[in-house]
Amino acid sequence: MTADGTELEGMGTLRRSHSCGEIDASRVGDEVVVAGWAHRRRDHGGVIFVDLRDQKGLVQIVFRPETSTEAHQSAGDVRSEWVLLVRGVVEARSAETVNSKMVTGEIEINVHELRILNSATPPPFAIEEEAGADEAVRMKYRIHDLRRPPLQRALAVRDRLSTALRASFGRQGFMEIETPMLARATPEGARDFLVPSRLHAGSFYALPQSPQIMKQLLMVSGFERYYQIARCFRDEDQRADRQLEFTQVDLEMSFVGVEEVLEVLQQLTLDGCRDAAGVELPMPFPRMSYKEAMERFGCDRPDTRILLELVDLTDLFATSGFKAFRGAVDQGGIVKCLPVHDADGVSRSEIDRLESFVRKELGARGLGWIRIAEDGEWRSPIVKFLTDEERAEIVKQTDARPGSLLFFQADAPDKANAILSRLRIDLGEKLGRVDGREWDVLFVVDFPLFERDDKGQLTYVHQPFVAPLEEDIPLLETDPEAVRGTHYDVIMNGTELGSGSLRNHRADIQRQILKVLGYSDEEMKQSFGFMLDALELGAPPHGGFAFGFDRMVMVLAHAESLRDVVAFPKTQRGQDLLMQAPSPVAAESLDELSIRVRAPKPE
Ligand code: AMO
Repeated sequence: MTADGTELEGMGTLRRSHSCGEIDASRVGDEVVVAGWAHRRRDHGGVIFVDLRDQKGLVQIVFRPETSTEAHQSAGDVRSEWVLLVRGVVEARSAETVNSKMVTGEIEINVHELRILNSATPPPFAIEEEAGADEAVRMKYRIHDLRRPPLQRALAVRDRLSTALRASFGRQGFMEIETPMLARATPEGARDFLVPSRLHAGSFYALPQSPQIMKQLLMVSGFERYYQIARCFRDEDQRADRQLEFTQVDLEMSFVGVEEVLEVLQQLTLDGCRDAAGVELPMPFPRMSYKEAMERFGCDRPDTRILLELVDLTDLFATSGFKAFRGAVDQGGIVKCLPVHDADGVSRSEIDRLESFVRKELGARGLGWIRIAEDGEWRSPIVKFLTDEERAEIVKQTDARPGSLLFFQADAPDKANAILSRLRIDLGEKLGRVDGREWDVLFVVDFPLFERDDKGQLTYVHQPFVAPLEEDIPLLETDPEAVRGTHYDVIMNGTELGSGSLRNHRADIQRQILKVLGYSDEEMKQSFGFMLDALELGAPPHGGFAFGFDRMVMVLAHAESLRDVVAFPKTQRGQDLLMQAPSPVAAESLDELSIRVRAPKPE
């Protein structure tokens, strides 16, 4: 009995004969049994219509008093999201009631028997394509949210993709091996999630940021082609494309060079996209060096469907009298320009909006711009600082002409590039400067091995196990910053799907790299001792890769955020609003773990 007095029933011996979404006109006259959730109910002068929904779709069921008084009477109680089981006969709808938008729009089921299996509290938002609710509400009521078509579709893509990738791995001779979740810290550059040990008070396991070290150890153990669909944990700031826990499609291979790994990645991407989403990607995937990607697009994961490109004007302004630009170059910065031709449609107020966007959101100091009017006149707040020669050189390098609008950034290389690459996407999409392809996939290769951090110390670009290009090994001694790594990324529609590299299989080179990174012998032993020891047990040359599985699904499902392709995601503040995690735990549990909690800092 429900709170409002409705009698609930069991399924008895009645079992589903069909899914709601699959019944079409070919079934007219058949008796069917369907089950699902009451999506919508309408009362039309004594006849009650319910759209019944299950995982495969919707079907209209009809309660007529003349067919079954009992079923008709019970149907009067039914509310949204109640769970029903019905037996009835498939009938053709009259011509004027056919709904061509629904697969099942030509028929309805005339109900002879209704069993109300469960009642439900009213849903907090519409179970429709658009929920029309804040994300926080959707996350709290994730069970309802997951009933909505976009999430049902995204999780189906997830399932098809993992099935497709497993099959592709199988065909390519890979073996799935699981690695532990309770592990030691792994160096992927984020903060670790720690798990206290009860048996070893004061000691902690780290949840893996990736199976990186373990898969390398498996190579030393002689498993030549490993893969795993592995959960990874990283305590880092949340963004649309980052979750605290996420899934990697992780692989590693022995006795290979970059080419053999890229071939496997291409095949996996191809098989996954085709089988999960019917996407046929052109072969072979284009390749671009890191250097070229940064120069032309200002980022290492370019969406090359957008036709706008950056131009580097650093040399021009290195000797300029225009202090703002010259000063940036003097301090090791760059000057880059984003030319947009035929830009008459971009109004002055739009330029102001862009300027305020880059200042507020991207930390820009400002946004330099020059508009060349149709009459050839240069309208710009900065043109008065430029000599005629500089203007001529700008025209030459940017191909500027009447109707062109040029945007400038003079700043540290990272910052100038980051700002203009965002602007490139924003303007490219807004102005429709795109080449019309739905899918854009490419390899970015030849990343540097090291970069300098804010304090000027050399640090690794990806992780400390990346092998240098063989011919650059001598430079480790003499000019480490010039050393190129064997790192490669797969980029799809401007998203980094995954990354990988060849690894240092020789302990001496691994030690040398750790030394460049500033590790003393003692620190090396402390952090990487077991890894260095393992490399001395007969480690074969090896390399691998990890796809961000959630990101692949996000791109294939055209979702805006990872939160829309993960069943139970965390919010931007790392919370699960449905299950209320994280949460305090009982004092006894902490005692058992020998842990005392300091009072939380006030928010
Ligand atoms: P990397 O750290 O680049 O490499 O991770 C590989 C891919 O995993 C995805 N990814 C994430 N997805 C969601 N949320 C996150 N917080 C998150 N962080 C990373 C991205 C990324 O490209 N061990 C190496 C791989 C290797 O060299 O084999 C690694 O983990 O899509």
